Amino acid sequence: TPRIFSGIQPSGGLTLGNYLGALKRFAALQGDQAQTIYCVVDLHAITVWQDPETLRRNTREATAAFMAAGVDPARSVLFNQSQVTAHAELAWLFNTVARVGWMYRMTQFKDKAGKNSENASLGLLAYPALMAADILAYQATAVPVGEDQKQHLELTRDIAAKFNHDYKVEHFPITEPLIEGVATRVMSLRDGTKKMSKSDPSDASRINLTDDADAIAQKIRKARTDADPLPGSIDGLKDRPEARNLVNIYAALADETPDQVLARFEGQGFGAFKPALAEVAVAAMSPITAKMSEYMADPAEIDRILGKGAERASEIATPILERTKDIMGILRSR
Ligand code: TYM
Repeated sequence: TPRIFSGIQPSGGLTLGNYLGALKRFAALQGDQAQTIYCVVDLHAITVWQDPETLRRNTREATAAFMAAGVDPARSVLFNQSQVTAHAELAWLFNTVARVGWMYRMTQFKDKAGKNSENASLGLLAYPALMAADILAYQATAVPVGEDQKQHLELTRDIAAKFNHDYKVEHFPITEPLIEGVATRVMSLRDGTKKMSKSDPSDASRINLTDDADAIAQKIRKARTDADPLPGSIDGLKDRPEARNLVNIYAALADETPDQVLARFEGQGFGAFKPALAEVAVAAMSPITAKMSEYMADPAEIDRILGKGAERASEIATPILERTKDIMGILRSR
């Protein structure tokens, strides 16, 4: 059976963007068609400073979010990255395959490192090699992500291809990105040209998975929009990024197409649309928020689930790592 892999960083509270672009789709991909492997990537999070106690809490909270969104640890392999040492080991091997120039070209590195990139951690630069290791440690063939991870997945393909070429093998698959649906790039509620992000300084720019119903309704009420009525189809929103974003969010939450949504709101303004969106958002998100806090009430149980998931993940990854070492001529005597 084909394998699907994806991960989320525990570097702060998760947002509606993470839910619609990733978690909701992770849950939907579970089934007999493929084995699904989902990971809380704590080793990626520490490429920028994390307070230790907060990191531990965020690792559990991200795990709770996976489960609240419908990822079932009995049907998927769910674990945190650092507990499966194959990730870090394979990442080192990939550090010798990937080229420095590939890393400097990554837009996420440029964004996160900022102007003083000499002062970024070496891990932040090497980040995509660890991401390639996450995926290829399982020889995963498909990776569901949001739009912002596309460049990293291209680099994963480059690493796999260069490894196969350099060692004259067909060991690693060339992974397919799964960037599908209307919510692959959920935008900020304050600025329709910026991605909704957990690191945006304005809390009003995002809906957090921990926001209660009042906070969700208030943020939608205050979301930036324009004064024009809604058109009958999404093509009419080409130059209206804020409006398009809200319609896409509605469609993703309600499992409809944007055109189906607009067919009902054609000719109406945001005075009518926003309360309807708030209702749909609260109905979809409140059960998730509630389940997350239920899971968070029992951290020992979360830790147990992650430990079991890590064992299952290691069983898959270890033989692939060993085979990789053999190909490279790394001596193994046990
Ligand atoms: P991260 O933790 O930033 O985000 C997790 C997932 O959420 C998606 N996402 C969004 N989707 C739509 N709209 C948004 N505004 C939005 N914001 C975030 C991301 O695209 C991602 O799918 N490098 C990855 C984590 C990672 C990974 C991997 C992913 C590490 N190893 C291996 C896949 C496979 C990251 O930083 O995602």
